[in-house]
Amino acid sequence: MTIRKEDAMLPEKDVNEPSEVTRRSFLDLVLKGGVVVWLGAMVAPAFSYLWPAHSGGSKKSTISAGTAKDFGGVGNSKMVKNEGKPIMVIRTAEEGYKAFSAICPHLGCIVKWDAASKSILCPCHAGVFSMDGKVVSGPPPKPLPEYNVVVSGGEVLIKL
Ligand code: FES
Repeated sequence: MTIRKEDAMLPEKDVNEPSEVTRRSFLDLVLKGGVVVWLGAMVAPAFSYLWPAHSGGSKKSTISAGTAKDFGGVGNSKMVKNEGKPIMVIRTAEEGYKAFSAICPHLGCIVKWDAASKSILCPCHAGVFSMDGKVVSGPPPKPLPEYNVVVSGGEVLIKL
């Protein structure tokens, strides 16, 4: 093995001296930083989706659907929202109300009350539910989740 003269003349590197940042190492650093930022942008929404919206704190135990007057009569319905999720309230009698999640258990479309047929219809795949929320026909695999309803001081309250 021969040692070239130029190699032998090179000064030895001082280990205490900070290393020089080359273009390659700078680009590596930028690329790795970009990957970390990209991964964070992908993972953060997944965690925020899985994490409960309210951890602790006071949650409502009832929500108001208004008064009997707001329904306009027996056989009418009203939509209210709980944390952005629609709830259908049907006035079934003078003092009788039923409330269901308005989210179809098939693929999540919003169901609608049909006063003429006294049934709940899903516009997406022609799912039909009875006034009790039970599946009459169509693809929904299970009934609509039901909420208890109480009337207190003339106000229709949905128990959550
Ligand atoms: S989403 Fe309601 S029947 Fe399919």
